[in-house]
Amino acid sequence: MSTLAGKNILLGISGGIAAYKCAELTRRLSERGAQVRVVMTNAAKEFITPLTMQAVSGHPVSDSLFDPAAEASMGHIELAKWADLVLLAPATADLIARLSAGMGNDLLTTLVLATEAPVAIAPAMNQQMYSNVATQENLATLTRRGVNIWGPAAGEQACGDVGPGRMLEPMQLVEHSEAFFAPKSLSGKTVTITAGPTREAIDPVRYISNHSSGKMGFALAEAAKSLGAEVNLIAGPVSLNTPKGVNCINVESAQQMFEASAQQAITSDIFIGCAAVADYRPETIADNKLKKVDGQDDMNIKMVKNPDIIAHVAGLSHHRPFTVGFAAETQDVEAYAKSKLERKNLDMICANDVSIAGQGFNSDNNAITAFWSDGKQSLSLESKQNIARQILTLIAEKL
Ligand code: PMT
Repeated sequence: MSTLAGKNILLGISGGIAAYKCAELTRRLSERGAQVRVVMTNAAKEFITPLTMQAVSGHPVSDSLFDPAAEASMGHIELAKWADLVLLAPATADLIARLSAGMGNDLLTTLVLATEAPVAIAPAMNQQMYSNVATQENLATLTRRGVNIWGPAAGEQACGDVGPGRMLEPMQLVEHSEAFFAPKSLSGKTVTITAGPTREAIDPVRYISNHSSGKMGFALAEAAKSLGAEVNLIAGPVSLNTPKGVNCINVESAQQMFEASAQQAITSDIFIGCAAVADYRPETIADNKLKKVDGQDDMNIKMVKNPDIIAHVAGLSHHRPFTVGFAAETQDVEAYAKSKLERKNLDMICANDVSIAGQGFNSDNNAITAFWSDGKQSLSLESKQNIARQILTLIAEKL
């Protein structure tokens, strides 16, 4: 059952092009058992009609502070008290500025001032407006006040620009909402997670690496944070934003990831090795760029073994955290994963079949089977965010 079942969500829509996605968002929240009531700014009504929002939410839409009919049914103070979560999506630069200033010059901002419920906003605007120092300072103010900022995503925008400022997709907002209401099963725990690839230098301009994007590890970090944990994320070179409230330690090579992990593991309750760590590195790194040699058609690079990070952590005799590995395999997935579980002395391993298109390396979705000494659980194809939450819930049950 979804954590949204029985929850009251006040959806505040402001005037951005992404407002058209709110019908979909409302349906997805409702089908998970949430009650959704909608408040719109005047500008929002230019992008989606109140009638549409009334039809999908099953309730009249509120849009004015001075509407006697609306005040007679559920007045704005009752609406503010009714909400378990106020979700403002899309939140335009203007709405964010008014919230930051503490204004109450329309129904939506008045409700935010009047509610004791947690508030989450999904910023949506042109990338230049998002980067503007005024918007960034307003967002920082709201964060300081405990407002949850969900997104924005980066990508192509309605105006043709490319950059950060796209509202998260409806399903991503649903996932954030579900995580928000999830029981905080990891509160008081410290979780350290490795993520992404490592880079093993050959010379100053070349390296050996792999296709890990870091998405799975970053999703685990975000999920652990939302379950109440203190989170250390040891990340190889990736281009992802660090989830809010997560302590990110950036590294390049397996040796650097080993050193950071060894340091964090001894103060952690849970260690998750999601990184795709290079097993070998070039024995020496050339001081200067290697040159092509006339008449020489092949080249040998002597490789030496890297330290096994997770085996080191699982082998700690003092302060050993609950240790979870991943196994990315293209064949005999279960057998290889189980042998790693045993050989590396892990408490759990997530077998990841990376031979199947659309999951594993660099995709947005994943499917894994978790194995532990006397059991297993398969998690079928879902967003990495959902898989991460399920893995952490499983770990919390085993602690
Ligand atoms: O980053 P994404 O694009 O989202 O992709 C996610 C993923 C496919 C990389 C991830 O889900 C995954 O499967 N990670 C493990 C990758 C891997 O190749 O594992 P492995 O079979 O080489 O290693 C097994 C375990 O030992 C892993 O937990 C690994 O982190 C760890 N290891 C490996 C070598 C080493 N020197 N030190 C280690 O700690």
